[in-house]
Amino acid sequence: MPHPLEQLREDALREIADAPAEQALEAARVKYVGKSGSISAWGDRMKTLAAEDRPVVGKLLNQVRDAVAAAIEARAAQFRARKDTDVLGKIDISLPGTPHEVGSLHPLTLILERSIQIFRRMGFALADGPDVEDEWHCFDALNTPPDHPARNEQDTFYLPDGRLLRTHTSTVQIRAMQAAAPPLRVIAPGAAYRRDEVDATHSAQFHQIEGLYVDENVSVADLKGAIEFFMHELFGPDTAVQFRPHYFPFTEPSLEIYVKSKALKRGEQWIEVAGSGMVHPAVFEAVNEARGDDAYDPDRWTGYAFGLGMDRLAMILFDIPDIRLFAQNDLRFLKQFA
Ligand code: PHE
Repeated sequence: MPHPLEQLREDALREIADAPAEQALEAARVKYVGKSGSISAWGDRMKTLAAEDRPVVGKLLNQVRDAVAAAIEARAAQFRARKDTDVLGKIDISLPGTPHEVGSLHPLTLILERSIQIFRRMGFALADGPDVEDEWHCFDALNTPPDHPARNEQDTFYLPDGRLLRTHTSTVQIRAMQAAAPPLRVIAPGAAYRRDEVDATHSAQFHQIEGLYVDENVSVADLKGAIEFFMHELFGPDTAVQFRPHYFPFTEPSLEIYVKSKALKRGEQWIEVAGSGMVHPAVFEAVNEARGDDAYDPDRWTGYAFGLGMDRLAMILFDIPDIRLFAQNDLRFLKQFA
């Protein structure tokens, strides 16, 4: 006749093997090896046994306990594995993955980066200033009198406190000269704002790269050389550059810059891309007054300045017909530059 412990082992092992799920397995565990389980109860019963029986029964008890614990663990491992295959079974690893949209740079960013690279090679450093400006930096210091039409409320966005959204990046000419004595060679890329009627070529916000070079004996020839080099780098060596007389309050003489290139779609057409000129002595004097010194002595220093229309340059280079496309976030448009 088998020992009752052996019978218990047999019952326990069968129940464990037959447990259909974790819950049943846990119930079996409690029943046999839980604190008041029937196998555990044999531990207490040991004290009541005759001394000569104890080693034999004790050994058997240990074997039964170990066998049941191992069976429980083995069955639990089966349940865990089943759970994993249930989950993985629902995944078809042969399906294509979920595609993620990959971003790309905006055409204005592309042309800005290319342009900055070209000017850097010519020794220009980067400067910047705020989009929200005071009237002095935007107009007065740039020799633009209070009655000048550019200062009109119809042309410029004024804030209630009297500040304004800069109408051009020429403000940074002034800030750069306030910050450092000559010689100076900086570019300042950034946004500018005008109350223009929005159409295919006008936007309330547009982008410029301002350039300023102040040194001894700077001439119009230096200006032309720098601009021609830049245009050839950007648009290719077949690009023709033309300077036409113009008027800006802060330069004298003043020149508008036109380009024409066979490599471009609108090949035979002169397109205006920038304003430029030689820094007006009145601008140096305004800067000196603000600095409280004579660093920009107009008898010693001369300089050229230019303001490139970046939206216009991008429209030419990428053959973009409408300036409004830059701000509409239409992926069909933007993806063409990826
Ligand atoms: N600030 C002028 C404009 O926005 C361009 C310019 C810059 C002209 C520098 C001369 C010198 O139209």
